[in-house]
Amino acid sequence: MALNDGNISAKDFGKDFKWGVAMAAAQNEGAHNIDGKGASIWDAFAKSSSKIKGGHKPNIACDFYHRYKDDLLLVKALGFSVFRFSISWARILPDGTGSINKDGINFYHRVIDECIKLGITPYITLYHWDLPHELEKKGGWTNYYVNKWFNRFVTICAEAYGDKVKNWIILNEPFGFTSLGYMLGSHAPGKTGLSNFLPVIHHVALAQAEGAQIIRSKVPQAYIGTTFSCSEIIPFSDKQKDIDAANRVDILMNRLFIEPTLGKGYPTEDSFNFLEKLHMENKAWKYTKRLQFDFDFIGLQYYFPVTIRHNNLVPIVNASEVKPATRKVPRTDMGWEIKADSFYNIIKKMWQYEGIKEIIITENGAFFKDELKSGIVNDVERIDYFQQHLQAVLKAKNEGVNIKGYFAWTLMDNFEWTEGFNARFGLIHVDFETQLRTIKDSGYWFRDFLSV
Ligand code: NOJ
Repeated sequence: MALNDGNISAKDFGKDFKWGVAMAAAQNEGAHNIDGKGASIWDAFAKSSSKIKGGHKPNIACDFYHRYKDDLLLVKALGFSVFRFSISWARILPDGTGSINKDGINFYHRVIDECIKLGITPYITLYHWDLPHELEKKGGWTNYYVNKWFNRFVTICAEAYGDKVKNWIILNEPFGFTSLGYMLGSHAPGKTGLSNFLPVIHHVALAQAEGAQIIRSKVPQAYIGTTFSCSEIIPFSDKQKDIDAANRVDILMNRLFIEPTLGKGYPTEDSFNFLEKLHMENKAWKYTKRLQFDFDFIGLQYYFPVTIRHNNLVPIVNASEVKPATRKVPRTDMGWEIKADSFYNIIKKMWQYEGIKEIIITENGAFFKDELKSGIVNDVERIDYFQQHLQAVLKAKNEGVNIKGYFAWTLMDNFEWTEGFNARFGLIHVDFETQLRTIKDSGYWFRDFLSV
């Protein structure tokens, strides 16, 4: 793929292609304790753990709660026709269960109404990592009852917004939040170990299918998807050991959640006994049907490829990543390898699954250390990143992959989880002291790209 060959335009993707920009409640809204909102696990984690860089807290973030009108005008000004945002469960149900917070319900009505007024199509994500803290106190995603709690939350959202919003995303990156939050403990709620991870995988996979069923039954003409992070997994060498190690990581990172959704149950592989344990969770296939849902679209989110070598010292997976820094490859300031070919390869690979009807790229983007100078952010590296990755999407689309849309991550710099506010992924620069927004050159680049 030609590097920085900018000779494509939005037109090449066809006139019905959906161009969107995405964000998430915990990363953008702020107003963490305003108008009746309960705490989320990220509010609690930011208070109690030292794992977030700079001790940053999502309390105010981009203050989207108060500035949504201006921010949606920016979405419009950049030429995007889709706005993907998530609903904070704890804003709707401060305790996760129990009584509904009317002010929370009304906030999202205002956001949706504003989108509609501006001619922007809203895409709602039901869960983007911010479980109500009160539920976490009862075990959160490890608790068998979480499916009941989640289903009620979904029902409330469907009943409140279903007549206005037709596009629904059930979960954001289930592998991301289950592995980081419940196996490695680096993300909220900071739990570790298989005794947490295994039940969480199962409850989350169930939530994905059951949540979708609720939307299907309550929202006429709904267009329903869910999103998966995906990475091309590259063996470090052609030694069989490295190839097998890469395969195990591929199962975890790319296959774990999509296969049950497609009705295949959890992945099977004789030599990987982690999976046997997971199958026990699935009570020997008892749940296979309940884990399935016929999604209208699958959201793929891509950031980087992963190179893997065999490593006996790492329990369970016996594999470790060979970091980009040690291989002298291009990378973002997150340390993530930049390789648009891998994006193309993983899209093609996922498309081979039977049962996927349509794909939307629901996230793709990059953090670079931007500099705001005299009102300008000249983020050429980010523009280059988008150009390369859009070419990968176009190539796959032209070869027959049914890709219906591309949503950039993200509208504006926001709370990047444990990286705090310094890992800037936005098309718009945010001064977190003053809340001043400055459109970066990548934002203008998108505007021009979309205006053709
Ligand atoms: C995926 C997550 O959905 C999003 O919340 C996060 O900010 C981006 N990756 C970048 O790390």
